[in-house]
Amino acid sequence: MKQTAVTFLDHKQKGEKISMLTAYDYSTAKLMDQAGVDGILVGDSLGNVMLGYEDTLSVTVEDMIHHGAAVARGVKNALVVIDMPFLSYQTSVYDAVKNAGRLVKEGHAGAVKLEGGKEVADQIRAITNASIPVMGHLGLTPQSIHTLGGYRVQGKTEAAAQKLLEDALAVEEAGAFALTLECVPAKLAELITGKLGIPTIGIGAGAGCDGQVLVYQDMLGMFDDYTPKFVKRFADVGEVMKNAFAEYSRQVKDGSFPDQAHSFGMDEEVLKKLY
Ligand code: KIV
Repeated sequence: MKQTAVTFLDHKQKGEKISMLTAYDYSTAKLMDQAGVDGILVGDSLGNVMLGYEDTLSVTVEDMIHHGAAVARGVKNALVVIDMPFLSYQTSVYDAVKNAGRLVKEGHAGAVKLEGGKEVADQIRAITNASIPVMGHLGLTPQSIHTLGGYRVQGKTEAAAQKLLEDALAVEEAGAFALTLECVPAKLAELITGKLGIPTIGIGAGAGCDGQVLVYQDMLGMFDDYTPKFVKRFADVGEVMKNAFAEYSRQVKDGSFPDQAHSFGMDEEVLKKLY
């Protein structure tokens, strides 16, 4: 079934959970799509897990288009959501619409995601008015790492929880079709989910959200620079890859690869003419 911003809303109304994963390339996105994942987020986490940056701040619109278009080519059914990178929408409503438009026209996004609450409500409204579905993102918002002071759980005090709830309502009111909640106490995420008509997609926000998203390298054990508490490892692909790379290297060095089965033959008579 083709997933869209509209079907995401349907899922919430029917009480059906929404599954999302990040992807940044054609082959991985194709596997996820074939596996029936509802939504694929081309997250600006690509700065960390694909490009090796310490944070997401250096990621550009061009990076997102490049990886987003690759993902979109591999997807038939999942909703492709592309992150708007740092300073591609905070600067003005004009920049927000223009860059969201590029992510759709050049990156083939079905929706875009941006971080923030009331302070970006005008941008969410304008992008939505340009017929581009917007997913909000609250809680731990990595593009604000310098003002947040670190990667930690958000909304734990009464004032912070109240602000998070008000921001969530503002994001919905501005026209967002869904909201990512990152690193938020489970009970608070559940409360916010109950107050919103749009689906919440949690990452480190407990089981009360309408859906879940994880960075795929985390859930496959392919990235160990750091592992947040909320990450569940569904397979040890990193170990499988390392073993395969080591075995390949061993076979190349001892001459057992390539063997005949993996080489091309030719007519011996043609070969003789060359001596
Ligand atoms: O960039 C990303 O991967 C994200 C998820 C962590 C939600 O925004």
